[in-house]
Amino acid sequence: MSDFASAWAELAAIGRTPAGYFRWAWSDGELACRSWFTAAAAARGMSVETDGNGNLWAWLGANDANAVVTGSHFDSVPGGGGFDGPLGIVSAFLALDVLRERGVTPSRPIGIVAFAEEEGSRFGVACLGSRLLCGELDPARALALRDRDGVPLAEAAGLDPAGIGPDPKRLAGIDAFVELHIEQGRALADGAGAPVGVACAIWPHGRWRLDFAGEGNHAGTTRMADRRDPMLTFAYAVLAANKAARLRDARATVGRVAVSPNATNAVPASVTAWLDARAADQSTLDGLVDDVLAKVAERAARDGTAMSATVESLSAETGFDAGLRNRIVELLGGPPVLATGAGHDAGVLAAHVPTAMLFVRNPTGVSHAPGEHATDEDCAAGVAALADVLTDLACR
Ligand code: HGY
Ligand code: MN
Ligand code: MN
Repeated sequence: MSDFASAWAELAAIGRTPAGYFRWAWSDGELACRSWFTAAAAARGMSVETDGNGNLWAWLGANDANAVVTGSHFDSVPGGGGFDGPLGIVSAFLALDVLRERGVTPSRPIGIVAFAEEEGSRFGVACLGSRLLCGELDPARALALRDRDGVPLAEAAGLDPAGIGPDPKRLAGIDAFVELHIEQGRALADGAGAPVGVACAIWPHGRWRLDFAGEGNHAGTTRMADRRDPMLTFAYAVLAANKAARLRDARATVGRVAVSPNATNAVPASVTAWLDARAADQSTLDGLVDDVLAKVAERAARDGTAMSATVESLSAETGFDAGLRNRIVELLGGPPVLATGAGHDAGVLAAHVPTAMLFVRNPTGVSHAPGEHATDEDCAAGVAALADVLTDLACR
């Protein structure tokens, strides 16, 4: 079994079910991944620490200045794939093994990080741990976040509320951050046969909570003309978002909905849904969302319902550091350079430290679903590429 396959096998069973991976932030599955991280670091003589925001760090050398950091996240969407996040962390440890095998002595600290709540599946804000680290999320807002069971962030994470917030000293100690991630798409699979690519940009994207309020009533005795049915306005919103995205070659998804009282024989009183919208540039994204919300408000008036939209998470367009990207492209012999519609912690770090991303080929492009996969060979190629990048950056 290859180095990659055996390392991967250690983690692969954690949080896996026939319906995909359930590794919500600080759930049993993700906590078990954190234990794996701590053991993997200890086995390599690395120190381990958890920062005030719940991000987990392993250090080769004193974490004092000019560190080269790599890593990703362990948390998954519910029913997600096993590679989205963990691949970047397992590859980071294996890349350090390659440096050791090559006899490379880094001239600066090397860190591996597992960022907390990257998916935002538990508390609703994407890249929660990296945003807090970088001062891009108000600690008061983070402290007010609750999961679907009403558990506050600090309680779920076992964090001191006073310690949640920006960590400028830690950020100042990072000279470069490189995240390796499975590609969530088919550009490499459909391209020129390269197993590894380099990111140039992340699309702007966001999440909006849509609340539809109507009048609960009896399914059998309420005439259709007398109804104020929020499910009707919700259904229209889903179709409007889909059409608006198609017309703009953008992306709009409603994958989560809650109905009250959620009874078979009652007209709903309210419906809550979440819109995930993304586009290649900010003005297209803004146009899409404005168009959808305007059309849905108009429809709500006709349905006799009310609709309100709340921004839950916004991610601006990310352009990665051109100097670092070009250095990596040259080092790796001219791999494909691609933009992505998927968000990443690297997209947050990019505004604060020189940041780059490596993508590993995904033969089907499927992600956020059990079918997400990359071959051992391509993952091993990712490890080798990351080892080359770490060697270059940590020995300059
Ligand atoms: O949702 C995303 O784009 C990422 O996979 N968290
Ligand atoms: Mn990810
Ligand atoms: Mn993801």
